Amino acid sequence: MARLTILHYPDSRLRKLALPVETVDTSIRTLIADMLETMYAAPGIGLAATQVNVQKRVIVMDLSDRKDQPQVFINPTILEHQGEAEGDEGCLSVPGYYETVRRAEWVRVSALDGEGEPFELAAGSLLAVCIQHEIDHLDGKLFVDYLSTLKRDRIRKKLEKQARLEPRVS
Ligand code: NI
Repeated sequence: MARLTILHYPDSRLRKLALPVETVDTSIRTLIADMLETMYAAPGIGLAATQVNVQKRVIVMDLSDRKDQPQVFINPTILEHQGEAEGDEGCLSVPGYYETVRRAEWVRVSALDGEGEPFELAAGSLLAVCIQHEIDHLDGKLFVDYLSTLKRDRIRKKLEKQARLEPRVS
């Protein structure tokens, strides 16, 4: 396994559209293992392949307290959504910032698991938020896109300054 570099906003590679996975083969399994390792190390509760500069529709998550219940979503699709709810969100690609975002309160999603088996899941609360947030990443979208231009620009400038002061090897 390998720890991958997480891209930070406003890196333009976070805007790329991820493509569907055609076969869940060894390379996808390796990607999943590496993404889980990277997510746990960060630490974070969700990570999309786009964030590690891989344009494939793969998401990993673990919302458990003990960090022992990894969830994998390959080619996720939201089949249905209901209601609206506001919650504070953060993102490993926007380190240090938490802002309120409005999303669907409940979603039903279909995807393939880490073995390539199809499944469906109904999700509310944090899981629903997380799924929508991560699918956005696969479509090149970030939670800061839901904020006012003023707020988004302020975050962008601070992160750009931080990147200049603390260059990362990537
Ligand atoms: Ni994120």
